[in-house]
Amino acid sequence: MDLEEAIINKRSVRCFNKKPVNIDDIQVLLMAAVWAPSGLNNQPWRFKVVNEEIRKERLAGFTKYSYIIKGAPVSICVFLDKTAVYDREKDIMAIGACIQNILLAAHAMNLGSCWLGEILNKKDEVRELLNVSPEFELMAVISLGYPKGIPCKVSRKKMESFILR
Ligand SMILES: Cc1cc2nc3c(=O)[nH]c(=O)nc-3n(C[C@H](O)[C@H](O)[C@H](O)COP(=O)(O)O)c2cc1C
Repeated sequence: MDLEEAIINKRSVRCFNKKPVNIDDIQVLLMAAVWAPSGLNNQPWRFKVVNEEIRKERLAGFTKYSYIIKGAPVSICVFLDKTAVYDREKDIMAIGACIQNILLAAHAMNLGSCWLGEILNKKDEVRELLNVSPEFELMAVISLGYPKGIPCKVSRKKMESFILR
């Protein structure tokens, strides 16, 4: 798949069909994730894959976007390892790059994905649910699955509004 096509046409997918996601495909996504750049190459990302129905239900309870997590066969919870941090701002940027790698790799495999940030309002509750210790801080949940229907059309502002003069 052409990279420019992928970048421009990848939409957030919020509705999924029931087809499960192969565990080998999740490994491919995690490989894409860890090849993201990070300051000092410190690779501060950690992952927890959630695909059991009961855990998914409980995870979904921590966000107003519960329908996305419930409907997706799998979610990847992305954590920052606070013990690996050398500069919090830069480490969080690296986590963003890692998440975008997952989203683009998923798109290239015909998987839909949605980056969920609202759930960070309950980051400690999510961490406890997943038995993850406090040195790891939740950064995002990425819901994944094969898309059902066509994602909503979205636009971007005009290019000139981004260019500083
Ligand atoms: C940091 C961040 C947090 C987001 N949180 C949510 C969320 O909680 N729920 C949701 O439905 N979409 C969430 N999104 C997806 C955005 O709504 C989406 O990327 C934006 O509307 C543009 O649409 P597109 O991804 O289809 O281009 C988030 C995206 C980012 C980058």
